Amino acid sequence: MKPKKIAEGVQWMGAVDWDRRLFDALIPLPDGTSYNSYLVQGSEKTALIDTVDPDKSDVLLNQLEGVGEIDFIVSQHSEQDHSGSIPLLLEKHDQAVVICSSKAEDLLVNHLSIPAERIKIVEDGEELSLGDKTLRFLYTPWVHWPETMVTFLPEDRVLFTCDFFGSHIAMTDLYAGEDAYVMEAAKRYYAEIMMPFRKIIQKNLKKLDGLEFDFIAPSHGPVYDHPENILSAYEDWASDQVSNLVVIPYISMHGSTGNMVDYLVTELVDRGITVQKFELTTTDIGKLAMALVDAATIVIGTPAFLVGAHPHVISAAALVNALRPKLKYAAIIGSYGWGNRAVDQISDLMSNLRVEMLAAELFKGLPDEETYAALDGLVESIEGKHAAI
Ligand code: FEO
Repeated sequence: MKPKKIAEGVQWMGAVDWDRRLFDALIPLPDGTSYNSYLVQGSEKTALIDTVDPDKSDVLLNQLEGVGEIDFIVSQHSEQDHSGSIPLLLEKHDQAVVICSSKAEDLLVNHLSIPAERIKIVEDGEELSLGDKTLRFLYTPWVHWPETMVTFLPEDRVLFTCDFFGSHIAMTDLYAGEDAYVMEAAKRYYAEIMMPFRKIIQKNLKKLDGLEFDFIAPSHGPVYDHPENILSAYEDWASDQVSNLVVIPYISMHGSTGNMVDYLVTELVDRGITVQKFELTTTDIGKLAMALVDAATIVIGTPAFLVGAHPHVISAAALVNALRPKLKYAAIIGSYGWGNRAVDQISDLMSNLRVEMLAAELFKGLPDEETYAALDGLVESIEGKHAAI
């Protein structure tokens, strides 16, 4: 696409990647993504904020044809989907200087072989004048690497945020407007990328208080022209408040664990508790991650596979542990045939979670009276805990 104007001298550039279906060789991208770059032309100097994934370098280079010299390339985040085209741009613009935070220099040198002498570190709060426009850099660490920062352009009331507030969605519109689909993509993005750093995000959100902007311009997905919507969503997602929601990721090989999960769902729903269950051979892990943004409780269901938990359950437990959702309660249920150590295995995998374990037991063979009595006990526990939410 051609560049798009946000304000006089401020343009969206970059590439919309309709076909990409996986990020980090793990995260599903059902809606593709975009790599946004922003050109800011002041009366004296020109800056480009972030670049694009190296696979799409040619798109950005074409958009920059005829722009003239670029004085500064602002690298808000060193991950290659934003910084990967910097080396090519430095070749084309031999006077350009890379602007980054203090923790980014090492990453840019190591990952992209950018010469240290082409890099200028800016401090938290430092400003860079482009003439009649000013770029103010604010450190916002861990969104989602340690070096990340955002850039405020006060004259045009634009806040550039790179991954922070981003969404993996390919679309032709520049602005998000009030599109609920964008907010869903932003929640998926938060769940998969930002959630592990929830406490730091709370601090970063506070840091933005007092800045007056009309646009949030992330480096994935559309620009927010109603920034209050995404700010309020982030306040909610990153808060300590959980919902009356139980998430049940599970596998069933011969039906026993599935039967237990169905019983649990019926009884929980009957008590006014919302449930989302995820059968892990078919689950989109992005959907599972999104459910974990709000959930109070997770119940993991597994059969014994040989003597351990099912490998799909092991993978899901490791993912949940890495995402560090704000869960308060957990349980492990399931069925075994002749032996198991699945409970210990899953418990060990979820050591990052600060949860109270309400039940952790696999039952031998088909569910029987003892099994259903134990499940009733779990339902009662969850009901009692959720009543206090
Ligand atoms: Fe969009 Fe952390 O890179």
